[in-house]
Amino acid sequence: MSQFKNEQEAAAAGVYIRKIQSFVKREGRLTAGQAKSIELHWPTMGLEHASGLQNFTDTFGRQAPVVLEIGFGMGKSLVEMAQNEPDKDFIGIEVHKPGVGACLGEAAEKGVKNLRVFEHDAVEILADCVADNSLARVQLFFPDPWHKTRHHKRRIVQPEFVQKLRSKLAIGGVFHMATDWENYSEHMLEVMTEAEGFKNQSESNDFVPRPAQRPLTKFEQRGHRLGHGVWDLMFERVS
Ligand SMILES: C[S@@+](CC[C@H](N)C(=O)[O-])C[C@H]1O[C@@H](n2cnc3c(N)ncnc32)[C@H](O)[C@@H]1O
Repeated sequence: MSQFKNEQEAAAAGVYIRKIQSFVKREGRLTAGQAKSIELHWPTMGLEHASGLQNFTDTFGRQAPVVLEIGFGMGKSLVEMAQNEPDKDFIGIEVHKPGVGACLGEAAEKGVKNLRVFEHDAVEILADCVADNSLARVQLFFPDPWHKTRHHKRRIVQPEFVQKLRSKLAIGGVFHMATDWENYSEHMLEVMTEAEGFKNQSESNDFVPRPAQRPLTKFEQRGHRLGHGVWDLMFERVS
């Protein structure tokens, strides 16, 4: 990238720079049920990156605090949260199509109306589709930990990313992360403690107990039984 200030400048010069992404696109098998859910529910619940900047009041037909979740996996806990907090509107972003299908199916089954979904890279959605100061909360639960040191640069929590995310949160809005990988929890804490404009909501300036709003997953319950840890971090945008 050396002779260019950023990707846009390189693109304008006709140079394609391979971005470091936080995911590797897995083309896992889409089940017939997931495909059917996408066919049935994408028209009402799907949002397109190509549509550009969203006006959430129009998207949901009302004015309510908006919660955005990055990498919702199969979407079970996202749907449960949307159901438990009907006074808020939820946007889920996931690159894995089977997860999108599973989430739409689950939301439809539960009759959840306050949820919309993007199938796209969350970094690009934040940049292109989310207005500044528009989010009440951003959730990042169990992001890919990228265990190997040489892959740590792929971790989504990085100084530049959290500043982009900060501009999308309203003042007073919260960035909520959870991970079961201790080394990643330490990395998150380090990046967030050094990030301008955020205040740690932890009394001990590190981690917070799992807030009741984040459902305990089966995977996590099993982890607890096996003595594995889970670390929650909550940082408020203060400036
Ligand atoms: C380890 S899984 C955790 C899924 C879910 N949050 C959970 O707790 O079960 C991480 C998920 O993040 C998704 N992901 C990673 N980077 C992403 C990005 N930049 N945009 C959207 N989704 C992403 C992956 O496809 C994967 O499904």
